[in-house]
Amino acid sequence: MENGFLHRYFLNNGDKMIHKWFHYFDIYEHHFDRFRDRPVNILEIGVFKGGSLQMWKDYFHKDSTIVGIDINPKCKAHEQDGIHVRIGSQVDEEFLADVIIEFGPFDIIIDDGSHENPHVIKTFDLMYPHISNTGVYLIEDMHTSYWPKYGGGLLKPDSMIEHFKSKIDELNAVHISGDFKVTDFTRTTSSITFYDSVAVFEKRPQGQRHSIKTRQMP
Ligand SMILES: C[S@@+](CC[C@H](N)C(=O)[O-])C[C@H]1O[C@@H](n2cnc3c(N)ncnc32)[C@H](O)[C@@H]1O
Repeated sequence: MENGFLHRYFLNNGDKMIHKWFHYFDIYEHHFDRFRDRPVNILEIGVFKGGSLQMWKDYFHKDSTIVGIDINPKCKAHEQDGIHVRIGSQVDEEFLADVIIEFGPFDIIIDDGSHENPHVIKTFDLMYPHISNTGVYLIEDMHTSYWPKYGGGLLKPDSMIEHFKSKIDELNAVHISGDFKVTDFTRTTSSITFYDSVAVFEKRPQGQRHSIKTRQMP
C-alpha cells in the first residue's frame, strides 16, 4: 500500500456504488501513485454505477480528465464536471476511434468492461497504442480467462491469459533470433505484471538496449 488513499476511499464510500475486488487497491496504489502530481487523462471501460469514475476524480489531480465508456446508455447519467461518459461497445472500432480523437492519448486505461476474452484482447490491441509513452494499461477480472461462459478455459490458446503470456516473448523480442519480430509493443513496453485477476502493462521508451560491465578499481 503506498499511502492508502484508495483503500480508505473504498471502505468509507458513502456515495455511488464501486464494484471492485479488495486486493485491486494495492495494485492501483502501486502503479498509479506516480501520476498523482499532475493532470492526467484516464479512460475506464465499464462505468456501471459511476462510483469508480468518481473515485478516480477524487484520487487524481483536480485538473485531470476522467473518461468512462459503457454499452449501457443509462451510464450517461454519471457525467459531471471533469467526468465524461461516452456510450458504445469496447469492441466497436469506430466508437473507440471517436473516443481517442476526442480525449486521447491516455495516461491510464482500465478495462473493467464486459470481461469477455475476445473483447478484452481486441480492446487491448486497439487501445494500447493510444496510451502515452509512460502510460499504464490495467486489465481487471482476468479470472474470466478460465471461464468458458466468457470464452475462456485453462490453457485455451485464445483465452486472454494465454494471449497475454505471449506478450512476454514480444517484450523480449530483441533477444530472440530467427523470424521473431520486434514490434511497437517491444519498443514501447517496459514491464508486464500479472496479479491474481489483474495484468498491468507499463510503457517507457526502450531505445537501444545494451548491457554494461562495471568494476571497482583495485
Ligand atoms: C463490472 S461493471 C463496471 C464497474 C465499475 N468500473 C466500478 O468499478 O464500479 C462492468 C460494466 O461494463 C459494461 N459493459 C458490458 N459489456 C460492455 C461492452 N461490450 N462495452 C462497454 N461496456 C460494457 C456493463 O454495462 C457494466 O456497466
